[in-house]
Amino acid sequence: MSGPAESPTGQNGITAQPLLEPLFSEKEIETRVARLASRINADYAGRGNLVLIGVLKGSFIFLSDLARRLTIPHRVEFIAVSSYGARESTDPESVRLLMDVRHAVTGDHVMIVEDIVDTGRTLAYLLRLMEARRPASLTTCTLLHKPDRTEEVVAIDYLGFTIPDVWVVGYGLDYAEQYRTLPYIADLPEELR
Ligand code: PRP
Repeated sequence: MSGPAESPTGQNGITAQPLLEPLFSEKEIETRVARLASRINADYAGRGNLVLIGVLKGSFIFLSDLARRLTIPHRVEFIAVSSYGARESTDPESVRLLMDVRHAVTGDHVMIVEDIVDTGRTLAYLLRLMEARRPASLTTCTLLHKPDRTEEVVAIDYLGFTIPDVWVVGYGLDYAEQYRTLPYIADLPEELR
């Protein structure tokens, strides 16, 4: 682990963002994303078009960095879901679709790209949704996974980092819409929540 990153204050947030201790530095993230992209390039070589489906909002930075390292033919779609109350609710249907992908994925190789798998409910919901559309193949890629929080077990095909049950922000992940654009991932201290 490296020390505190340089202050991003004024560069990438609505409000000034304090210095946070990185859990994963920019360099560590870059290295891991490059490794994931290499695996994906190898696994999908010669298979035709891959459709990356980024789950808004959290995945937008990870997907951008990952996609720019892909050398295989691919296209990018986004989907938005509401998991309002999902963490507290016992209703497995507490995830709802807010915005669907633009183009049909039937017959395509599809990869759902997440920033984090926490309880697993969002990804489980999206897997059910996409499976029903009969893609040629369906895989999942997430930068972070919190296995301690699992409520629905989902298959993760491409994983960046396994993390403990901490509140992570940065690199797409927010706390009340703050910290998303921090260039590194930090464990948000309790006094800032
Ligand atoms: C986060 C994250 C995943 C989901 C994972 O999204 O981006 O989509 O939660 O949680 P789960 O495994 O418990 O379902 P969030 O609802 O915070 O929305 P955001 O991406 O817009 O920040």
